[in-house]
Amino acid sequence: MQRTLVLVKPDGVQRGLVGEILRRLEQRGLKLVGLKMMQISNEVAARHYAEHQGKPFYDGLLAFITSGPVVAMIWEGREAVSVVRSLMGTTDPLKAAPGTIRGDLALDLGMNLIHGSDSPARAETEIVLFFSHGELHDYDRTIDRWIRE
Ligand code: RTP
Ligand code: MG
Repeated sequence: MQRTLVLVKPDGVQRGLVGEILRRLEQRGLKLVGLKMMQISNEVAARHYAEHQGKPFYDGLLAFITSGPVVAMIWEGREAVSVVRSLMGTTDPLKAAPGTIRGDLALDLGMNLIHGSDSPARAETEIVLFFSHGELHDYDRTIDRWIRE
């Protein structure tokens, strides 16, 4: 079963959209296995967004993601990485399809509410960056037999 990291970014926390975002992932059938509120340090932000180092938006991106608390979550399910990415919508909310989190709730590239790992390999790296082993929960849900054949 695949796992993926989701962050409700500082704009989502400030706008009171934590519950709305969590609800959409939960109702799709994904299983929540880790959840916490945290302030991202400069060091973790730099490691998380290392792929963007040197790009014109990098400094602003780091300042934004460390500007206030985020809600970090680990979601589990079949193809969880791509399922979350499709629920999020494309990076620029102006181009994101209606029905997606960004397409319904955001307007600005820099304030796009949510992060989701973009590949299974990245998900594994990001989960370890944000969560310790003891913060992740292995449990069965009786409802899963109604979600997956
Ligand atoms: P994220 O990593 O934050 O979940 O978003 P993403 O995969 O959809 O987008 P990514 O390409 O990884 O970019 C990370 C964040 O950088 C900002 N960005 N600005 N000005 C620009 O051209 C530009 N490109 C990206 C966005 O806020 C994006 O979420
Ligand atoms: Mg990304």
